[in-house]
Amino acid sequence: MKPMALDILVFLLFLFSHDFHLKCKAETEAEALLKWKNSLSNPESLSSWSLTNSTNHCHWFGITCNTAGSIVELNLPDCSLDGNLDELDFTYLSNLTKLDLSGNTLTGSIPRTLSALDKLTSLEISNNGLETSDFSEFKAMPTLTHLSLRSNNFPTMELPSFILNCTNLTVLDLSVNEFNGTMPDSLGTNLVNLRCLNLSFNSFSGSIPSSIGNMASLEHLDMSFNLLEGKLPSTMSQLENLTYLDLSNNKLNGAIPAGLGQGGLLYHADFKNNAFWGVLSESLCSGFKLQYLDVSYNKFYGALPSCLRNCTGLKQIVLTDNYFMGDISKAFGLHPKLISLYLKGNQLTGTLSTDWGQCTSLISLIIEDNNISGEIPKEFGNMRSLQELSLASNILTGEIPQELVNLSSLWSLKLNNNMLSGHIPRISLTTPLIVLDLSGNKLSGQIPAEIGNSSSLSSLDLSDNLLAGHISEKLGDLTNLMQLDLSSNELSGSIPSSLARLKALQQLNLSYNNLAGQIPEAFSGMYSLYSIDFSYNKLTGPIPSAIVFYRSYEAYFGNAGLCGDALGLLSCGFSTSDQGSHKKHTTLLIAITVPVAGCSLMLLVAIATVCRRHRTSKVTETENHSLVWDTGLKFKFTDVMEAIDDFNEAYCIGEGSFGVVYRAELPSGQVLAVKRQHFSDESDIQENNVRSFLNEIKFLLEVRHRNIVKLHGACTKKGVMHLVFDYVERGSLGDVLYSVLGGLTFDWAMRVNVIHGVAHAVAYLHNDCLQNIVHRDISINNVLLDNDFEPKVSDFGTAKMLKHDASSWTAVVGSYGYIAPELAYMTKFTDKCDVYSFGVVTLEVMMGMHPGELLLNLPSMSSSSQGNDLLLKDVLDNRLLPPTGQLAEQIVFIVKVALACTQTDPASRPTMLSIAQELSTRKKSYLSEPLGTISFKNLLQVSRSGVLLK
Ligand SMILES: *[C@@H]1O[C@H](CO)[C@@H](O)[C@H](O)[C@H]1NC(C)=O
Ligand SMILES: *[C@@H]1O[C@H](CO)[C@@H](O)[C@H](O)[C@H]1NC(C)=O
Ligand SMILES: *[C@@H]1O[C@H](CO)[C@@H](O)[C@H](O)[C@H]1NC(C)=O
Ligand SMILES: *[C@@H]1O[C@H](CO)[C@@H](O)[C@H](O)[C@H]1NC(C)=O
Ligand SMILES: *[C@@H]1O[C@H](CO)[C@@H](O)[C@H](O)[C@H]1NC(C)=O
Repeated sequence: MKPMALDILVFLLFLFSHDFHLKCKAETEAEALLKWKNSLSNPESLSSWSLTNSTNHCHWFGITCNTAGSIVELNLPDCSLDGNLDELDFTYLSNLTKLDLSGNTLTGSIPRTLSALDKLTSLEISNNGLETSDFSEFKAMPTLTHLSLRSNNFPTMELPSFILNCTNLTVLDLSVNEFNGTMPDSLGTNLVNLRCLNLSFNSFSGSIPSSIGNMASLEHLDMSFNLLEGKLPSTMSQLENLTYLDLSNNKLNGAIPAGLGQGGLLYHADFKNNAFWGVLSESLCSGFKLQYLDVSYNKFYGALPSCLRNCTGLKQIVLTDNYFMGDISKAFGLHPKLISLYLKGNQLTGTLSTDWGQCTSLISLIIEDNNISGEIPKEFGNMRSLQELSLASNILTGEIPQELVNLSSLWSLKLNNNMLSGHIPRISLTTPLIVLDLSGNKLSGQIPAEIGNSSSLSSLDLSDNLLAGHISEKLGDLTNLMQLDLSSNELSGSIPSSLARLKALQQLNLSYNNLAGQIPEAFSGMYSLYSIDFSYNKLTGPIPSAIVFYRSYEAYFGNAGLCGDALGLLSCGFSTSDQGSHKKHTTLLIAITVPVAGCSLMLLVAIATVCRRHRTSKVTETENHSLVWDTGLKFKFTDVMEAIDDFNEAYCIGEGSFGVVYRAELPSGQVLAVKRQHFSDESDIQENNVRSFLNEIKFLLEVRHRNIVKLHGACTKKGVMHLVFDYVERGSLGDVLYSVLGGLTFDWAMRVNVIHGVAHAVAYLHNDCLQNIVHRDISINNVLLDNDFEPKVSDFGTAKMLKHDASSWTAVVGSYGYIAPELAYMTKFTDKCDVYSFGVVTLEVMMGMHPGELLLNLPSMSSSSQGNDLLLKDVLDNRLLPPTGQLAEQIVFIVKVALACTQTDPASRPTMLSIAQELSTRKKSYLSEPLGTISFKNLLQVSRSGVLLK
């Protein structure tokens, strides 16, 4: 018995201590993983993880084992894993040193058991949708050297404190989250081993702690897109290993510490969009390693650091909007690798060096708005990669070198506002010009007919020169043209009817010339046109019969012989022999004033009632004006009038079919915009109309939203309305989108932000207010952008009170090209009309052009086989590089939303609220296929199937 029992015991011991033990453990590691795999909503994505394969789980996909067969690495990046981590118990994986789950769509919390992994050195869980709201139970992980939580869905919270105790970290990436609060001092005192610190795209506030100077190993520092303020600590100049520094898009101020970058290794320095000032320090380029420098939108002044001239590896320099001075030919040397140089809006002097001709990699050269003099060297024609050249707003003289317009990649050429003379050069057939602006020079001679061969031209501005002769028929061949401005020249003859072939044209200005004859009736078929100006010519006869021609009353001033149904013109039945427009204006004024005076008593009664209900605004009424004013304001309407010297032209900043805008700077420094508009046509100035207008203004005064321009008050006087708003610096979305800089400065991230902002603003108007407000006129001209490219919706709710159309169209307002199709047969303006306009604006921002033609083709595209080969990437604004990563996903989603919004049936369009919510919550996921291969038609079908948004 005994030996037998011993045998069994030995066997059992053996079993427990060795084989069985190992086997059991191995199964436990594998089982822990299988349990998690089966909890995923797509377990099939880990098909190699199966029990039939369990004999050696070390061969499973993504797994690395140690020699003892225990899992040490789990590498599952970009595996489309969809689910959460609740079933992943890390206590069974205690040998793990590396965990990479990045680029999946994992949600939920990170299990606390993770911080018990006491051998973990690398943790990569970036680009998921993880939502952990509380890290307080996470313990410090001293072994961790690499941690990335980039782009997850954590709620807004302060920096998790366990991270500050991971003292062995060399790489810390917390970017694209919503961490807030100040950066603790312990960041620099504890994490002294960091080589890479990325805190970009968060909401960190306060100043950068001076302890950062302790991170002696730091090479890569990115704190861009936060809310940081204050000065940079001088200790930053101790960071001698720094190679990459991005502090852009914060609210930092003060000077850049002398000595920053003195290690001489810096190749990337970005200070864009802050309030920095002072002189750029020599230390930034002392090692001549600099390749990328962006200090745009700050208040730097003085000369550029002299070492810049010797940085032969320079690739991109952006100095836009500072106060740099000095001679441009001394500041730069030979930079054969230079790709882009943006010097716009500084005070540089000197002449253009012929050396620039050797910058054969240069793609964008923007020297706009400086004090550069002399001639344009013909060597500029040697910059064979050049795509974008702006020398606008300098004091250049001489002729435009023929060599310049032979460049085979040039799509944008802006030489406007100089003193250039001579003829317009013949543009080579191979030059793919899209934008040509030669306005504001002293160019003479005829417009060369060959310009009609530049079939890619989208914007042509030759205004304000000394051009003479006839307008060539050949301009009608520019079928992609969206803007044509030939105003303020000495052009004569008639307007060629061939221009009616410009079906994409949105803006046409032929004012201030000597053009005679009729405006061709064929122009009424130019469906994209929304802004026209024929004023101050010698035109005669009836105006064309499309809406845009009816509502643009200023477009005809100074033409004695025009007639038609537009306001201010005599109807064509009448004799057109009375002279000039002066007389017509007098008639108009009388027609407006009389009904207003007649009903002022009724108004008083109505307004008194209104006043009792609301306290935040006040209405005052005198015999000839009514004022609605936000009573909380420190300034009065009369102060505003004083600031613009009672509509002195000197304060006028914009003019169009909407009226005139003035800029009012109050003594306090506050800047306001005053919009002066005429009411709808005379028959509309009924007592009801004015009363409901004042009533609505009172509601509008209550509207407070970060993406809506603040309205402070309004005053109506003799048929004219004055609206007082906050001033928004950058002007309209349209101005920014279609400026040449729009191709660069207004990048994808900003565009996404603009669409989000507009969606939220309109959703707010539709839902959150005391009263639902339908905007009625959403267009790229009614969205303004502030200095930070933050959108501000303007002109909400007032559109319908304004003069837009001939009488038969009074109910239809909005800007042509943005109006929902149902308004052609219905007169009721619903919130779904706004949704349509929002869709058009969104597509326009994504495409960099009005989607008119695309929208026309969509109905046939979604059913037939037409458009099968159209790719999304071909539709996106090709002035920008295609978006990548998460931005690409956001843009695909935004295009889907826009397509859903532009459906013909209003009932199928999503509501603004659902759009705003979806845009906010869907911002963190990944594309299932590369952007480059996404078919536009598939996108259209998905977006219009109704599954996208409800
Ligand atoms: C087992 O895993 C290996 C390695 O991933 C894989 O090649 C093999 O196809 C798997 N076998 C089964 C039956 O899944
Ligand atoms: C970890 O690996 C060691 C061998 O390096 C092994 O002895 C131990 O059992 C493993 N731990 C687990 C939990 O598998
Ligand atoms: C921290 O890093 C150092 C150097 O790499 C290493 O010697 C040390 O063991 C690490 N500490 C921990 C707790 O892992
Ligand atoms: C971090 O370390 C400090 C000092 O060692 C300790 O008091 C604190 O509890 C630690 N915090 C965490 C979250 O580990
Ligand atoms: C951070 O965000 C949270 C949640 O929104 C908020 O409660 C907290 O006050 C914020 N902290 C700071 C410093 O802004």
